[in-house]
Amino acid sequence: MRHLLDTQTLDRQTALRILDIAEDMSDTQSREVKKLPTLRGKTVVNLFFEDSTRTRISFEAAAKRLSADVINFAAKGSSVSKGESLKDTAQTLQAMGADAVVIRHSASGAPRTLATSGWISAGVVNAGDGTHEHPTQALLDAFTIRKRRFGADSRGRDLAGIRVVIVGDVLHSRVARSNVWLLTTLGAEVTLVSPPTLVPQNVSHWPVRVLYDLDAALADGPDAVMMLRIQLERMNAAYFPSEREYSRTWGLDAVRAAALPRDSIVMHPGPMNRGLEISSAAADSPRSTVLEQVTNGVSVRMAVLYLLLAGERDEERGRDL
Ligand code: CP
Repeated sequence: MRHLLDTQTLDRQTALRILDIAEDMSDTQSREVKKLPTLRGKTVVNLFFEDSTRTRISFEAAAKRLSADVINFAAKGSSVSKGESLKDTAQTLQAMGADAVVIRHSASGAPRTLATSGWISAGVVNAGDGTHEHPTQALLDAFTIRKRRFGADSRGRDLAGIRVVIVGDVLHSRVARSNVWLLTTLGAEVTLVSPPTLVPQNVSHWPVRVLYDLDAALADGPDAVMMLRIQLERMNAAYFPSEREYSRTWGLDAVRAAALPRDSIVMHPGPMNRGLEISSAAADSPRSTVLEQVTNGVSVRMAVLYLLLAGERDEERGRDL
């Protein structure tokens, strides 16, 4: 794998390969093997033009657990504030020896530009670009759904027949887009639930069902309910109902969560707006996978970095993590 830019163009075989390698990585972590020598001598640059807690830190943890060196770059406090361009910033970091660049940027398409412009030779991973995609979030979400459903028998399995309801601010959500493409590629049935003003105009071209009534969607007894963060920082006030109305109509409160089938899981990519899209009772309940998603994110990002930086080499001589 040369780059990971999106899930829309990620084929089923590659997606399953990432999830299966993430299972191997997860096994090594649970055996308390804290560090693997796999990426010794490689350098991973975290190039973050937008804030992040989970994604940036888990890429750092993933790279370090594979023995890579990590350089963390945050636009705040850097020469970006003096007007330095993406090209010059990336080339500066490449000159310090970057083998892979993990980029988060407010502009949709920035990771693809970096990967295809010829500015740098490093592999590029999209860690979230504008409202476009967040592919490793969708991979860790698929991993979590598969793990909860199949446990130790997860390897090689897709998500055929699994029903996922994604709820909330779909319009601004790169997490929703990446999940729609990946989950449906893996065979899941996806329903989007959102206020009409927070549904993208081109949704009729997506392989999903769209509902506006959360209670109707939950009455079908989905296997997973994924709540999206309301992105107040990207919201034009004209688009958004009041927070109280939103929470009452589209929020996952304790009553809605308790009415789900026993094995249904409640997911959220974080950070959560507790009391707005999800209540604390739902977020902290036994059916919540919020913290499992974070843990699984490290294994999935280890798998992605492994495939980017060592996959071809190791597959030529038979994989041995
Ligand atoms: N889910 C997610 O991308 O979280 P961060 O913004 O904290 O990385």
